[in-house]
Amino acid sequence: MSESLNPQPPGLPEAAPAPAPEANAYVPPKWRTEPRFPDGPSPDPAGSHHERRIRSFQPRRSRVTTGQGEALKRLWGTWGLDIDGHEVIDLKTLFDGLPVVLEIGFGMGEATAQMAAADPSTGILAVDVHTPGQGNLLALAERNGLTNVRVANGDAIILLREMLPPESLAGIRVYFPDPWPKARHHKRRLIQPEFLTLAATRLAPGGVLHCATDWEPYAEQMLEVLTAHPDFENLQADGGYSPRPDFRPLTRFEGQGLDKGHVVHDLLFRRTEN
Ligand SMILES: C[S@@+](CC[C@H](N)C(=O)[O-])C[C@H]1O[C@@H](n2cnc3c(N)ncnc32)[C@H](O)[C@@H]1O
Repeated sequence: MSESLNPQPPGLPEAAPAPAPEANAYVPPKWRTEPRFPDGPSPDPAGSHHERRIRSFQPRRSRVTTGQGEALKRLWGTWGLDIDGHEVIDLKTLFDGLPVVLEIGFGMGEATAQMAAADPSTGILAVDVHTPGQGNLLALAERNGLTNVRVANGDAIILLREMLPPESLAGIRVYFPDPWPKARHHKRRLIQPEFLTLAATRLAPGGVLHCATDWEPYAEQMLEVLTAHPDFENLQADGGYSPRPDFRPLTRFEGQGLDKGHVVHDLLFRRTEN
């Protein structure tokens, strides 16, 4: 019999056997743990679905079309990025020295592709957890020959907190974040003081956080917390909402809001120099 590498020191009681897994321990469904596409995005790269933290998104398995799946298999290795929370990303290398804006929650990515095409001198790091949208944006980027977009898969909070260096971003865009209208879900809204404090550390001084929403109570909350935050100042001199800037295209979610008669508000706040 081979000798144990870690023999029990004399006089100590025998080590207790490893506890059996609890009968009612949570076993995540396969779709949360197994990759859907070879060489494609990981289902839960940082394990954030199992964290106790309150998240701004709902994990869901959505239908992926053949075209989106093909794009994920073929292009993820080149243009995709799993948010595993381990490595710090060198944005200069990733974007060939371009200034980089982070877009949080790009949805199906049509507006992202339009902005990337309209401004090739800016890199867009686009993050979402939505697999069909990731495939759609990769396909759009390929079809339009866009080299200034990277598609990140996972929770934007982990990306900001663990993987982006301080003062590395020229801007952050949050267009039509999930409004979480029920009062008991307000804690899930992304634009809160803690998020702003984190975002401010990753923005270069002068970098702009641009939010837009069609949900009036959320717009009011955004204006309130941004105005109160010491690291941000409103680009709108009267302290209110900004006119919609020309560079922001109509987004899919915005179109749905406009069809319902919602009013859209843009908020542009600069990171202060302090
Ligand atoms: C209401 S949709 C808006 C999509 C798009 N911007 C538009 O206007 O059509 C919000 C998106 O944000 C994504 N999202 C929410 N919280 C996120 C987070 N913490 N990290 C990454 N994506 C997130 C959701 O998956 C969803 O696709």
